[in-house]
Amino acid sequence: MDAEILKQGPMSPLYDPREDDREATLRPRALRDFQGQERIKENLSIFIQAARERGEALDHLFLMGPPGLGKTTLALVVASEMGVEFKPTSAPAIEKPKDLAGILTTLRPGSVLFIDEIHRLKPAIEEMLYIAMEDFELDWIIGQGPAARTVRVPVPPFTLIGATTKAGMVSAPLSSRFGISLRFDYYSPEELGKVIRRSAGILDIEIDDDAVALLAGTSRGTPRIANRLLRRMRDFAQIGGKSRVTSDIVRFGLERLEVDHLGLERIDREILRTIMVKYGGGPVGAETLAVSVGESVDSLEDYYEPYLIQAGMIARTPRGRVATPAAYRHLGIEPGHENGRLQF
Ligand SMILES: Nc1ncnc2c1ncn2[C@@H]1O[C@H](COP(=O)(O)OP(=O)(O)OP(=O)(O)O)[C@@H](O)[C@H]1O
Ligand SMILES: [Mg+2]
Repeated sequence: MDAEILKQGPMSPLYDPREDDREATLRPRALRDFQGQERIKENLSIFIQAARERGEALDHLFLMGPPGLGKTTLALVVASEMGVEFKPTSAPAIEKPKDLAGILTTLRPGSVLFIDEIHRLKPAIEEMLYIAMEDFELDWIIGQGPAARTVRVPVPPFTLIGATTKAGMVSAPLSSRFGISLRFDYYSPEELGKVIRRSAGILDIEIDDDAVALLAGTSRGTPRIANRLLRRMRDFAQIGGKSRVTSDIVRFGLERLEVDHLGLERIDREILRTIMVKYGGGPVGAETLAVSVGESVDSLEDYYEPYLIQAGMIARTPRGRVATPAAYRHLGIEPGHENGRLQF
């Protein structure tokens, strides 16, 4: 995983443990500081208010969406708005039923239990979680062999918040047990502009309006990337002896990072060029494409492709990936040109 992280460019939406402290400073704690995702916030604020008025734990909450869009942040916000304890863990950390039982029995009434990467829960753990979610109890086996018996242990009423980047990999029995399911969308440039302004305020960075707009447009709809780029631009400004981030500095900085105005980096352009030049515009299968650009299928599918699709640069077809006319325009390559055909 570390090697993967080191390989990620500045535009990676993935969580990087080296940035942990910095992310923590910029994480909103209140719903009103959580920028964008208006539909999600409106509904959630009603559910939170209603649960608070009833003095109950909030219904279990399922958060889905690409990396870096604010799932963990929103889970923290929910706990703080509910005024309850936040207990974070992740599915790979829960190896044995004993691990889950240990967590559940130490929760306080109303606690938020946050399970990240919930698509990776083991079946035995999932089954145990079902009973806890529905009945606030867990089945515990004492003794061994013929003397073994099951006892039901009560669990305080709690709110499970499950997060995943791979909603398709979560089993139906699990997903149907969440009372509230929220799907995150990529942020609009306007919303990212708000994220950038808020972060600049916290980090004491002076930044021009047109510089904010430029950064927002290149941040791939992702707050994590917007915050990272903002910090890099502060570096470029500082080293250039400037006290504020201007659009000239942003243009210079993006060029140095090899990021274009759509937020594509070198490897993204390489992927597009490979589809166009090597495979005549496609369709080309994910595996072939991954090998051609020297990436794993996983990072191609989980990291590069979603944004290229979102940006309208490639389309997925049953027979593979194709480059769109917009991609040809973006790279300045003529579609159907002779040298755009696969030659043997
Ligand atoms: N709506 C938002 N408003 C302001 N900042 C945000 C928002 N969403 C995310 N951020 C910022 O982006 C960073 C990344 O968000 P977060 O860690 O919550 O993403 P995630 O969806 O949990 O990603 P992953 O799938 O990698 O776990 C946060 O530290 C926070 O600073
Ligand atoms: Mg997260």
